[in-house]
Amino acid sequence: MCGIVGYIGRRDVAPLLLEGLQRLEYRGYDSAGVVISGKSGDLRTVKAKGRVRELESRIPKRFAGTTGIAHTRWATHGAPSDENAHPHLDTAGTVAVVHNGIIDNASELRAKLTADGVVFASETDTEVLAHLIGRSDAETLEKRVSEALRAVEGTYGIAVMHKEFPDRIVVARNGSPVVLGIGEKEMFVASDVAALVTHTRQVVTLGDGEMATLKADDFRTYTTEGSLTTATPTTVEWEAESYDMGGHDTYMHKEIVEQVEAVDRVLRGRIDDRFATVHLGGLNLDPGEARRVRRIKILGCGTSYHAGQIGAQLIEELARIPADAEPASEFRYRNPVVDPDTLYVAVSQSGETYDVLAAVQELKRKGARVLGIVNVVGSAIAREADGGTYVHAGPEVCVVSTKCFTNTVVAFALLALHLGRIRDLSVADGKRIIEGLRRLPGQIDEILKTEPEIKQLAKQYADARSMLFIGRVRGYPVAREASLKLKEVSYIHAEAYPASELKHGPLALIEPAMPTVAIVPDDDLLEKNRAALEEIKARSGRILAVAHQPQEKADHTIVVPKNEDELDPILMGIPLQLFAYHTALALGRDIDKPRNLAKSVTVE
Ligand code: F6R
Repeated sequence: MCGIVGYIGRRDVAPLLLEGLQRLEYRGYDSAGVVISGKSGDLRTVKAKGRVRELESRIPKRFAGTTGIAHTRWATHGAPSDENAHPHLDTAGTVAVVHNGIIDNASELRAKLTADGVVFASETDTEVLAHLIGRSDAETLEKRVSEALRAVEGTYGIAVMHKEFPDRIVVARNGSPVVLGIGEKEMFVASDVAALVTHTRQVVTLGDGEMATLKADDFRTYTTEGSLTTATPTTVEWEAESYDMGGHDTYMHKEIVEQVEAVDRVLRGRIDDRFATVHLGGLNLDPGEARRVRRIKILGCGTSYHAGQIGAQLIEELARIPADAEPASEFRYRNPVVDPDTLYVAVSQSGETYDVLAAVQELKRKGARVLGIVNVVGSAIAREADGGTYVHAGPEVCVVSTKCFTNTVVAFALLALHLGRIRDLSVADGKRIIEGLRRLPGQIDEILKTEPEIKQLAKQYADARSMLFIGRVRGYPVAREASLKLKEVSYIHAEAYPASELKHGPLALIEPAMPTVAIVPDDDLLEKNRAALEEIKARSGRILAVAHQPQEKADHTIVVPKNEDELDPILMGIPLQLFAYHTALALGRDIDKPRNLAKSVTVE
């Protein structure tokens, strides 16, 4: 998705902005641009379709200035091109705007402005904003920007520079993240802390409807109506180095390997051996309230939705509360019945996914109680939720999610254990789950040691045009997530089905050219899963099993260590992350930035 970086201070701005843009490259983009306020006060712009290094190669030798804003664009209105790249300026070249999000009424505003004689230089929705601000004659830049924002409908995170107000950058947020970085006599702005952490770890995250003015040694935040808001900087915990590749060839590989420490982190300080439970400080749900919960509804998108499906099973198994997961993107459009006895749980790595945020906002409007299970501290969903827990996976840079999936499932196990122990989970079962959780980091390490074997297997399956993933009950969400991972990074078509549904249709697909990846845990459904393998084998299907012991009917088995039945799904997905990774590697894919995908989807 689009990225914003801005700086005002005393340093030469262009290299700082380029470095910031590079740190946002992981989010996916198709063009980039920069504007600085030159010595004469003029706004100087350079834009380029393609990569940031293309933009860099176009920056003139003399391009000095100490204030500027820059952008990476992910095309929505208008194809990727130099003209459509941000920043966008008004006709006189006095205002420059970079924008993340979508202006819904852009075509209407564009028609009005065109009728008034404005000539547009791009096909973007953003250019409308530049003209609206440029045409305002309000006294201050802040008023000009808020006046323009009142005319637009849609989502935005914007940064604005104006030739007549060279001492400031004005920014605003509605639905698209904007973070201020507070330095010593210098200020930064970005759409993601990744672009700031090498310079400052003091940040202020803007809320929806908030604006800010950044000057070199000062900043203030206020509403679009102009009333001041309080903004206390918080310290970002993530180190700048956690955004580096740390000796790995890709972020995906680094993040898969990091799962040993990441899982250790989500458990740290939370286990209470005395009462065989866990403490989740931020839930804001007292035991009485927790006991009154009749149902739990989990909402998320993509991988987070799959983590939520495993979470729902853990909650049903350990806390005996009926629970289910639904894609937030579907839920918000079906006018759902919002029930006061239901606890809603929003799941998101980024904490900024628009569909999840919109579902949370809709639920809150209808009086529901919403918890957030989120990775990015201070993100919009974390702020909007009534309480929740952070998953402490650390920054996830690769577009496809791996370590955050695992940590989110572990966070669900903690929530399920907590709810179970204040309802009717026994001390013995509480202890059993705690012991299982403690074994996870060591067992993940064991799985990672099988990487050479998984790499060989991936090479053998990389010629498949399509693959079927099957699992039953606990194994089914694992199959769904593994299938998503494979298609995202390798572009091999993959489909996940409950193993129990094979006979009801998908069996027709089975032939030697259609391999099946089967999740076969050693639990009460083992024999049923084995029967499914028999059925596939009888039709000459190739089978790769992920199991706790070698499977006779499978062509290959990846053996994973056994944990408690309820916790097995946490481990069984990990070898298949490596499988997807090595398949994509064998096929020469751009692993960290799969085509057409972006890291956090902050638009509809
Ligand atoms: C898949 C993937 C996406 C995200 C989804 C939700 O690998 O990364 O499916 O899981 O876009 O993103 P978050 O979790 O940030 O809300």
